[in-house]
Amino acid sequence: MSQSDTEHHVIELGVNVDHIATLRQARGTTYPCPVQAADIARQAGADGVTVHLREDRRHIQDQDVYRIRREVALPMNLEMATTQEMLKIALEVLPKECCLVPEKRAELTTEGGLDVLSQESALTDYIAELSAAGILVSLFIDPEPTQIEASQRVGAAIVELHTGQYAEAHGAEAEAELARIQTAAQVAHGLGLQVNAGHGLHYQNVAPIAQIPEVVCLNIGHAIVSRAAITGFYEAVFAMKQIMNGARLEGEGAGF
Ligand code: PXP
Repeated sequence: MSQSDTEHHVIELGVNVDHIATLRQARGTTYPCPVQAADIARQAGADGVTVHLREDRRHIQDQDVYRIRREVALPMNLEMATTQEMLKIALEVLPKECCLVPEKRAELTTEGGLDVLSQESALTDYIAELSAAGILVSLFIDPEPTQIEASQRVGAAIVELHTGQYAEAHGAEAEAELARIQTAAQVAHGLGLQVNAGHGLHYQNVAPIAQIPEVVCLNIGHAIVSRAAITGFYEAVFAMKQIMNGARLEGEGAGF
């Protein structure tokens, strides 16, 4: 192992496959399949798979969650709202981690972090039920020390720091957001919490977040699915043209 290997901070990638399901739901087809995508992520070196089972089921469906848990050899991080329906599903699926997120039906994606401070007693009971089943509970919060301290009080094992504001900012504002996340990571680590981060991370903005020493895992979805659509586009057009001209599609790589 070279010196740079030993010095390099090893960080995990949790691949969020929600938007593979978004594409499927847009046409009501059976493809593209998030189970297949999760397994490809595994083959490519992902450390975990993340799925957000939303209350409105706009992308990931219940069957996807059960199938990925059964069929894909990766630790699962199940993102969900703090409802009784989701608690029941989580206790059946038994993912390695549950990440509790705020959910509003009209939002395009998860817009802000969970306000832990305003619901400490309800969250304490909810987290206790998941923890008793051996599930590690993660809270998706804004990088604010008060929310981190509250996360520790309610019994979370992990905080996932919301990087959305960092991802949307530019220049000095992005630097300030990065500093806020770095400080939050130190505070959380100091309190004994595992530190994850995610939301809005892409190929141009991920590096400074991946270099924060306290951060253990990044959960990334939209940018990966988007890049796959573009980098895979040439092959997809080429294969279609070949089949139209009499070629046979080989292997199951295309999946559909
Ligand atoms: N982490 C959490 C808690 C999320 O809700 C999401 C979006 O579902 C992500 C990470 C991934 O965000 P993105 O799709 O922007 O990479």
